[in-house]
Amino acid sequence: MQPPEKLLRYYGMHSGIYDATRWTFLFGRQRLLRELGLSDPPERILEVGCGTGVNLLTLGRLFPQAQLLGMDASGRMLERARRRLGPLSSRVTLREAYYHSPLRLQPAPDLICFSYCLSMVNPGWDRVIEAAAADLAPHGAIAVVDFHASSHPWFRRWMAWNHVRLEGHLLPALAAHFATTSLKVESAYAGLWRYFLFVGRARSRPEPGHVLPVSHRTSVRIPLSGCSV
Ligand SMILES: C[S@@+](CC[C@H](N)C(=O)[O-])C[C@H]1O[C@@H](n2cnc3c(N)ncnc32)[C@H](O)[C@@H]1O
Repeated sequence: MQPPEKLLRYYGMHSGIYDATRWTFLFGRQRLLRELGLSDPPERILEVGCGTGVNLLTLGRLFPQAQLLGMDASGRMLERARRRLGPLSSRVTLREAYYHSPLRLQPAPDLICFSYCLSMVNPGWDRVIEAAAADLAPHGAIAVVDFHASSHPWFRRWMAWNHVRLEGHLLPALAAHFATTSLKVESAYAGLWRYFLFVGRARSRPEPGHVLPVSHRTSVRIPLSGCSV
């Protein structure tokens, strides 16, 4: 499957200013990786939508024994990742491809990361989550940081114009496909939007709804059709 033209155009234009600008709003990326809370260090890590490689660099330093695979639809973003990851080149593979179905890697990755990628896969985010569930090793973990929701319609429209869907749709699907080990929902810019940090474990099959632990509340029910967090 080919990546959408609009995505390639967008990152073709933005790759040059990506690293200089995204720290102002892509919150939680370093925190997610530093607070994974895994019992064993991962050996094979896949980041889908790795962009300019900022997370792969951190992961490579946190887990010096791990092999890293970064996949991205945009060749322009990967050019930057390649330069950044030069010092780790013996352990890093970068692949230009649009993730939409299982890769069926052998051996399977024991950590799969998505950082501000899933909210941009529209349509297809649900198939991508299913694909990750199929790709993850049976003992593996998934780590996701992404936009969650906003109560401001104008802001949701602005983000949609930038190819980002902010409708609280990701957490219910993640909770259905993975056993939640950690979930944090945080507010940005005095509540303009919320973003989440999710870590989950492989589970054998999706379940219809879960009581999730949330860092700032005792528990919260995530219905499949929307999100109450
Ligand atoms: C907002 S950037 C995030 C980059 C990086 N993960 C970070 O945290 O800085 C989203 C990236 O995901 C890529 N992307 C979006 N959908 C994708 C898909 N289905 N397969 C591969 N890459 C995808 C885009 O090309 C872009 O580089």
